[in-house]
Amino acid sequence: MSAMQPLPGFRDFLPDDCAARNYIFEKWREVARRYGFVEWDGPVLEPTELYKKKSGNEIVGQLFNFTDKGEREVALRPELTPTLARVVAAHEREFRKPLKWFSIGQFFRYEKQQRGRLREHYQLNCDIIGESDLAADVELVALAIDILRGFGLTEKDFVVRISDREFWTDFLRDKNVPEERWPEMLQTIDKSERESREKTAEKLGMLADPVFEVFNKGATSAKLDNLVEGLRARGLAEFVDVDVRIVRGLAYYTGTVFEVFDRGGKLRAIAGGGRYDNLIAQLSDNAVSMPALGFAMGDVVLGELIRGRLQPERKIDIYIVIAKETRRADALAQVQQLRDRGYRVDFPLTSAKVGKQFQTAEDLGATLAILYGDEWPQVKIKTLATREEKLVSHQELSAHLPAHPSLSS
Ligand code: HAM
Repeated sequence: MSAMQPLPGFRDFLPDDCAARNYIFEKWREVARRYGFVEWDGPVLEPTELYKKKSGNEIVGQLFNFTDKGEREVALRPELTPTLARVVAAHEREFRKPLKWFSIGQFFRYEKQQRGRLREHYQLNCDIIGESDLAADVELVALAIDILRGFGLTEKDFVVRISDREFWTDFLRDKNVPEERWPEMLQTIDKSERESREKTAEKLGMLADPVFEVFNKGATSAKLDNLVEGLRARGLAEFVDVDVRIVRGLAYYTGTVFEVFDRGGKLRAIAGGGRYDNLIAQLSDNAVSMPALGFAMGDVVLGELIRGRLQPERKIDIYIVIAKETRRADALAQVQQLRDRGYRVDFPLTSAKVGKQFQTAEDLGATLAILYGDEWPQVKIKTLATREEKLVSHQELSAHLPAHPSLSS
């Protein structure tokens, strides 16, 4: 391993990567807020026990965990839901229900690196707490859809595959499978699309034939039909498919579950979530019990889907061209004033040819260049897109500038 390279599955974010990431975060925030969600966050390091108890074997096997200097067993967060359940159990009295909370943060899983899966990634988490009615499920799935629509994606680009864990727990009960074996069976069904049919059949044993029959024929339930109808009423039914092959890998889900995929089916899941009505009670010291549901959307697969749709970022609004070094002090006084007023402004730190300075202004995406040179005490304002120029007194410069923030819009 070279100390000169990032660890496998970790990314450097160069400016263009950061711009893309910021764009994703801004859109996530904007649409979540449109749905009345408020932002919160938790610690990135938690007691390992939190995940051992609640997330299930798959995630526990992927923890970045260690013993800290105080001999505590700790782990970098692989997901947010157990933290959310702990926080809500401790603070729920302070808030009116239902809570609609969202969070944006980085998560860590020691996974085998592959397309769409890294060892760190960012997630948007959106959760509704304190509402058991199906209306909350409809609201949550609608939000997941509208976030992706916000990125310009359509029903031709992605699909939300909706299912219900209760369908499978009823099925397992019906087949007299003892309850302690349910998590293992659910995990096998969850993995069936990524594993060979033989392997799945071997793990399912006697249940293989009836499970494959469900896979082949498909299935639905009154709850899932109502969920789709709720989305149809909002004009969003084209974005969803009922698909009971979805059960989700995490242990705490109790009802509706869903995953979002690219229509091409080439990539890993863009988002996933569902109901976890028992988790808060399990993490509560004082017997708080509340229904809850949510989803998380990652930045990695989403980033692949929207690449090519991103506009190059305009880095500045105004470039100050210093054509005569004797005018540098006047130019810098102006730079300061413009920055105080909120414009994004840049200038050459050392003397440079005027042509090169204009090229820099273009490269940085400036709207205007303002030239300090022989015309002093007048300065020349040049609109770079149209090449239009006008001479104005430097004292009246601000009156000739478009009002911020229209310049940077
Ligand atoms: P999850 O399905 O484990 O759910 O992760 C959600 C999303 O995070 C995935 O669909 C994927 O986009 C992204 N993701 C997960 N692992 C990786 C990885 N190694 N590399 C890149 N992206 C990844 C949860 O985490 C649940 N806690 C979601 C939830 C919230 N359920 C209820 N509320």
